[in-house]
Amino acid sequence: MARRVLVLLSFALCVIRLSAAFTPPDNYLIDCGSSTNTTIDNRVFIGDLSIPGSALLSEGKSISLTNPTHPSNSSPLYSTARAFTTASSYKFNINKIGTHLVRLHFFPFTSQKYDLKVSNFSVSANGVSLLSNFAAGFSVLKEFILMVDKVELEISFVPTPDSNLAFVSAIEVFSAPKNFFVDGPTKFIVPNGVEEFTQNISSQVLETVHRINVGGQKLTPFNDTLWRTWLPDEDFLVLKSAAKIASTTHLPNYQEGGATREIAPDNVYMTAQEMNLDNVTSIFEFNITWNFPVGREDALQLVRLHFCDFVSLSLNQLYFNIYTNELIAYKDLDLSSLTFHVLASPYYLDFVVDSGRSGVIQISVGPSDLSTSLKKNAILNGVEIMSIKNFMASQTGTKTESRWILLGSVIGGFVVLCFLVLAGLVVYRQQKREAKSKRVGSTGTDWTPLRVYGGSSLGVLSERTALASPCPNGYLGLKIPFADIQLATNNFDKTLIIGSGGFGLVYKGILGDNKKVAVKRGVPGSRQGLPEFQTEITVLSKIRHLHLVSLVGYCEEQSEMILVYEYVEKGTLKSHLYGPRFTPLSWRQRLEICIGAARGIHYLHTGSAQGIIHRDIKSTNILLDESYVAKVADFGLSRSGPCLDETHVSTGVKGSFGYLDPEYFRRQQLTDKSDVYSFGVVLFEVLCARPAVDPLLSREQVNLGEWALEWQKKGLLEQIIDPRLRGQIRPASLKKFGETAEKCLADYGVDRPTMGDVLWNLEQVLQLQENETVESLETVDVAAVEHPAPGQVPSGGTWVERDGCDGASNISTSRVFSQLMTNEGR
Ligand SMILES: *[C@@H]1O[C@H](CO)[C@@H](O)[C@H](O)[C@H]1NC(C)=O
Ligand SMILES: *[C@@H]1O[C@H](CO)[C@@H](O)[C@H](O)[C@H]1NC(C)=O
Ligand SMILES: *[C@@H]1O[C@H](CO)[C@@H](O)[C@H](O)[C@H]1NC(C)=O
Ligand SMILES: *[C@@H]1O[C@H](CO)[C@@H](O)[C@H](O)[C@H]1NC(C)=O
Ligand SMILES: *[C@@H]1O[C@H](CO)[C@@H](O)[C@H](O)[C@H]1NC(C)=O
Ligand SMILES: *[C@@H]1O[C@H](CO)[C@@H](O)[C@H](O)[C@H]1NC(C)=O
Repeated sequence: MARRVLVLLSFALCVIRLSAAFTPPDNYLIDCGSSTNTTIDNRVFIGDLSIPGSALLSEGKSISLTNPTHPSNSSPLYSTARAFTTASSYKFNINKIGTHLVRLHFFPFTSQKYDLKVSNFSVSANGVSLLSNFAAGFSVLKEFILMVDKVELEISFVPTPDSNLAFVSAIEVFSAPKNFFVDGPTKFIVPNGVEEFTQNISSQVLETVHRINVGGQKLTPFNDTLWRTWLPDEDFLVLKSAAKIASTTHLPNYQEGGATREIAPDNVYMTAQEMNLDNVTSIFEFNITWNFPVGREDALQLVRLHFCDFVSLSLNQLYFNIYTNELIAYKDLDLSSLTFHVLASPYYLDFVVDSGRSGVIQISVGPSDLSTSLKKNAILNGVEIMSIKNFMASQTGTKTESRWILLGSVIGGFVVLCFLVLAGLVVYRQQKREAKSKRVGSTGTDWTPLRVYGGSSLGVLSERTALASPCPNGYLGLKIPFADIQLATNNFDKTLIIGSGGFGLVYKGILGDNKKVAVKRGVPGSRQGLPEFQTEITVLSKIRHLHLVSLVGYCEEQSEMILVYEYVEKGTLKSHLYGPRFTPLSWRQRLEICIGAARGIHYLHTGSAQGIIHRDIKSTNILLDESYVAKVADFGLSRSGPCLDETHVSTGVKGSFGYLDPEYFRRQQLTDKSDVYSFGVVLFEVLCARPAVDPLLSREQVNLGEWALEWQKKGLLEQIIDPRLRGQIRPASLKKFGETAEKCLADYGVDRPTMGDVLWNLEQVLQLQENETVESLETVDVAAVEHPAPGQVPSGGTWVERDGCDGASNISTSRVFSQLMTNEGR
């Protein structure tokens, strides 16, 4: 009895589901070159030969082909194809004008007369190019989303003159559901903040590049409301240990104004990745990051992120930040308020971003300061990346520097409601911030450097740093008026931009005394990067070393945060390794650069400026001056090293992927051995002339550190060296170099050499290159040679005492204390 009820019930459910299923007003499914109908996943693809007179086809010469050796494990849909030797087209009557999905299936095969694998052709839809000079050498499905504003859709296939051959295996043309894209400006994430992409998305031609079911399994057309395929995210996760799969068995609570089943199926919203907080303390913060190669440089991409918070136990627990290509896209996102206070309610966000030089779209989610739960979390359920075709970055038009918070894809009247909620949030945060700054004791200006001492942003450690600072007034002398910087950079002339980073843009400039400088300007008015700014001033003002980029001065007027450095003529080491612009460096030059950089880092770790951990050693942070002398740059992430009884510093993971010490990540413990690990990656980068992470390479090659280490362990390192070094390196020199890099990449910090040992070894590598008889030197006591006594000049370095600081540490300490008390007293 009970079972029968259950059967009836599930039958009823089934009927409800079916009746609610989406039926597109236009729905053409064509099995090209076939005389029979083929049913795939409950959908009937009509053989285009069975249509009377092939009414769909117009003009041109076309041949229907059957694969003589069709593999039994591939879809029967692909056993036939239609080939074209001249321009030809399919025409579809459109019942309902609007956004349509067009899927073109290509499954090339060789028949008696034609080899579809060497076809080469272009495809357009109503005259708009979809594919050009396209060579479908292997099985591929292309999906396009476009507006059809005529009563007919003509899909044309035009063979290139060389190949004279085009083909297609199957075609799907069907109407998109209502509100698949909501018109109106879309958020456009750019390096200096956020602009509006003022074009309506629905009037763009989009090509689907990635469709990912984050935290879930592969979903096939059979499982999907719009017959889409969703792939798992695992292969795109940058650091798998950062993420943890979350899933629910409860169906999502769809809300009006949120996502619908057609936007993404239940299964996408019922799985997610969340932060892997299993083995970490609550203060430990990091991002989950995915890299999605999009294959095209400098192309605009529409990114759609899917969310459903079934992870939180109550409303408004989860606040998180979303970044794309290291730019903030959404700050303090609160799904609860966006989904009208219903938990586990699906929601999606659309934004536009440029794929940039890397051709990769990076998505990160990370915790927000507003989180109220004990452990800060962040989630992501799904990702779609669609390339905006025929749209160059230069066309984006109006630059409306609006202060977006969130506008994503809210529909109609809900915009107003949403705005009210957000306005409330903003006011609340404003008040919170004001209260906070009152506590710290605001002096009217946005920030004063001396607040480093009394402020809470850097905590106990920075206080210690500050107390040990040889001369606090030292940095007042480094202040540069904003007007002088404007003059030096021709008022931040765009043509003088020489770089950009998390902090902001870097300009080349010339100060009044004809001194060439690099001017690093934080995003004006934004307080992002403030801790880095403070750290960099504190750290850099204390040190002068031949192999460290020195700080010329800084400016903090008019809500500006600007750092001014000595200008290092030849730019980053990276650009000389595999940039297209420069002649390749010789092995000797490369060794000297590594030795110089090692000296700089060694000085940071052990020099008289007190132990400093760089935290972001990479080839873009090693600069070369006019004589190729290496200078280590970017101390923005630096932290003071272990002190007395401590052996490590506990801190949020920062640094760059590919260079990140695995132990640092695992145990959240920062030691100077973390820099040694990163430097080991740089050594391999110098030897192999390829990036530390190259997501476009095969899986085992993506991470240079892991890949090169394998070759080194096999004793075959010479096989992967920069081809331009072939014949230049003496075997003994290469051997020692490989061993040194290998030791740096040891899994555990304790097994890695100190920077002093690395330096010593590299000097030997150089000697082995010059003269092969120095092997016996190896046994010399390293520590005695390389670790300079406090205050002593490390070999090769120059040390400039800051004027007037000598022996005044007692005085400066009390000055610091009085500053601290003044601030607290206010
Ligand atoms: C294929 O399906 C179409 C539409 O349902 C129908 O008109 C046609 O007769 C079918 N062809 C064959 C060979 O069954
Ligand atoms: C396709 O044809 C174009 C134009 O003739 C040519 O530039 C391109 O290299 C061809 N592609 C392939 C893969 O043969
Ligand atoms: C965007 O779409 C809206 C409504 O569909 C229309 O009023 C507006 O003119 C369009 N904007 C652009 C830039 O095409
Ligand atoms: C998706 O559909 C396949 C059948 O094609 C089925 O085996 C699988 O379990 C389904 N997956 C989900 C997550 O529903
Ligand atoms: C957490 O730590 C335990 C014991 O150290 C280990 O067995 C487990 O795999 C770790 N969990 C994760 C998710 O890393
Ligand atoms: C997350 O990534 C962004 C962009 O790369 C970065 O600015 C931010 O500091 C990261 N957050 C954490 C907690 O590491």
